[in-house]
Amino acid sequence: MKTLILAGGSGTRLFPLSREHYPKQFIPLVDDESLFQKTVKRALLFSSPQEIAIVTNTDHRFLVRDQLAAIGCDCRVLVEPVGKNTLPAIYYGAREITRDDGPDTVAVLPSDHLITAAGQFRDAFRRAERLTKDYLVVFGVRPTSPHTGYGYIRPGEPLGDGSLVDAFVEKPDIETAGHYVADGYLWNSGMFCFDAGLFLAECEACAPEVARAFEQPIQEAYGATPALSIDYGIMEKTRRAAVVPLECDWSDVGNFDALYAALQKNGSGNAVRGEHIGIDSSENLIIADRLVATVGVRDLAIVETKDAILVAARDEAQRVGEIAKALREKG
Ligand code: GDD
Ligand code: MG
Repeated sequence: MKTLILAGGSGTRLFPLSREHYPKQFIPLVDDESLFQKTVKRALLFSSPQEIAIVTNTDHRFLVRDQLAAIGCDCRVLVEPVGKNTLPAIYYGAREITRDDGPDTVAVLPSDHLITAAGQFRDAFRRAERLTKDYLVVFGVRPTSPHTGYGYIRPGEPLGDGSLVDAFVEKPDIETAGHYVADGYLWNSGMFCFDAGLFLAECEACAPEVARAFEQPIQEAYGATPALSIDYGIMEKTRRAAVVPLECDWSDVGNFDALYAALQKNGSGNAVRGEHIGIDSSENLIIADRLVATVGVRDLAIVETKDAILVAARDEAQRVGEIAKALREKG
């Protein structure tokens, strides 16, 4: 199986760890490996290095190559002239990666997720592979809250180890998301598995303006294509989608609260990367190179880098994204 890893996005909710030039996927968030490096290692569970391609942009291509070298994986890096969201990235990648050997099964992995159970992850792809002759397969995660940053999938009639997708709704509002959780919808994990030929045909049918743009050389194609995600561009429209459940711990580490949840906690419920002395301090996230001492505080995120310190209430962690905007306005 071929694997495409999407590594062109930028996250703003993990400031000051993530920056435009150093987005979330490249940060060693939970240990010494970045989420991107962990993703490459997961891809190696079912693809050889020659079968893996990374799709990234000009700003991050050297970072990608450095991080690949550090884990000894010599795979192909496809550089987009400009980021146009995930559909053009997947279209470009799926076409390139199958150009020499003809259509093949392709796994698409975002590079900004944390998945701990490698065996269950690999099994889910094995199950998905059996459905790719007729369906674009998406991996569904059981929701834990009405999160508005995810796509929602209504599973329909059973199909092999999965189900037909009855409906796919990308990023609904909070009220709708609440109904979906109650009605048994699944979150879209953002990972896909499909036959490249079927994917390109569905793109032609659902997002012809993207397929048409890619009839030109790459530079022109990226000039012409609209910016569109696979979720809005294809998944909401296609009738040929199937969902396979992903039964393992999965997090897109979207903010410091999610990072806190993913990290190990000490006896006081603090998740600490670095050194911490806490007096009556519990359930805090602390990341710093220097000693951090706290007295009488709980549920905070305290994050220090070389040039900035963030102190935030963990339950407001989603709002850390507002800092990027404030910084841009400050100039
Ligand atoms: N090469 C490339 N080019 N990669 C990109 C681009 C681009 O223009 N834009 C985003 N990516 C990469 C990101 O780095 C990430 O690894 C992945 O594609 C998904 O993009 P995000 O921007 O992180 O998407 P999202 O989190 O808002 O939403 C998607 O993921 C959710 C699960 O985490 C959707 O698929 C949702 O439906 C899904 O629930
Ligand atoms: Mg994401």
